[in-house]
Amino acid sequence: MTKPALLSFHKNGVLGLDQLEDHFDIIKLWQEKDPEAAIQEHKDNIVAINCTIGQFITEKIIAALPNLKIIATFSVGFDHIDVKAAQKRGVAVTNTPDVLCAETADTGMALLLATAKRVVEGDMYVRVGKWLNGDMPLGVSLANKTVGIVGLGGIGSKVAKRCEAFEMNIVYYGPREKSEYSYPYYADLTEMAKICDFLILTCPGGEATANLVDAHVLDALGPKGILINIARGSVVDQPALIAALQGRRIAAAGLDVYNNEPHVPEEFISMDNVVLLPHIGSATVETRQAMGQLVVDNILAHINGKSLLTEVK
Ligand code: DGY
Repeated sequence: MTKPALLSFHKNGVLGLDQLEDHFDIIKLWQEKDPEAAIQEHKDNIVAINCTIGQFITEKIIAALPNLKIIATFSVGFDHIDVKAAQKRGVAVTNTPDVLCAETADTGMALLLATAKRVVEGDMYVRVGKWLNGDMPLGVSLANKTVGIVGLGGIGSKVAKRCEAFEMNIVYYGPREKSEYSYPYYADLTEMAKICDFLILTCPGGEATANLVDAHVLDALGPKGILINIARGSVVDQPALIAALQGRRIAAAGLDVYNNEPHVPEEFISMDNVVLLPHIGSATVETRQAMGQLVVDNILAHINGKSLLTEVK
């Protein structure tokens, strides 16, 4: 008897898909010479999709798969999936929250320290022999500075905890005040940016947060301010950020995410006041293993008729 098919856009990290092989014919799209033709050939048999960020699961793809039941993404963010279209069709969407929050917060702290303490510049300074001609420019302290967290969710709250250990003052912005935290809340991002030395973006991507950080917010952050983005490129008006960095209207930025990844604007690459990472928020062996297991466990729960572990509601 033919097994149902799993349309796999992604290897599922270090874990792989072995645990699903008994249950599904796995269509490994990254191995297919003609991915469109492979989808067409198996379209009536496909009941599950696994994917990750940058692999856009559009309404058109969902509509083309009449028996699709579950989309499991290997990421906490789901802005690459048309969740509304999926839910309208009764297709469940799962993601990988919780297991990556601490890791992604650590990446935010790495960028915070790298920009404030000029770590990347310092490394270069030693390598190219500049140190022999004198000390490099000074960095800025974290202790007693104010950090504004944009989106105090799973990742944002872990960032806050870490910033507390660095003796920073914490404030936050989001769609609503959260009674479980005593940090001061701002309903207006520009107002919050005015009192911040550092702004760390940890909110979800998608329509609701598109270009949230615009020229006004950057100007409010000011010439000594540092922006850290571990959320999504779409949260920042990228041309406005380039202009603010070029004009030194903000001091520096640490970026893990961009519009149109993996393409990074040439302007960023040529600037010495930005630290650039290739979207590695969750990228460690341990965390990628846990994310892969959660993808598998969600798909197994689905086929066993059990409640999904981390369904996007
Ligand atoms: C995710 O998984 O959505 C994040 O981008 C981690 O960096």
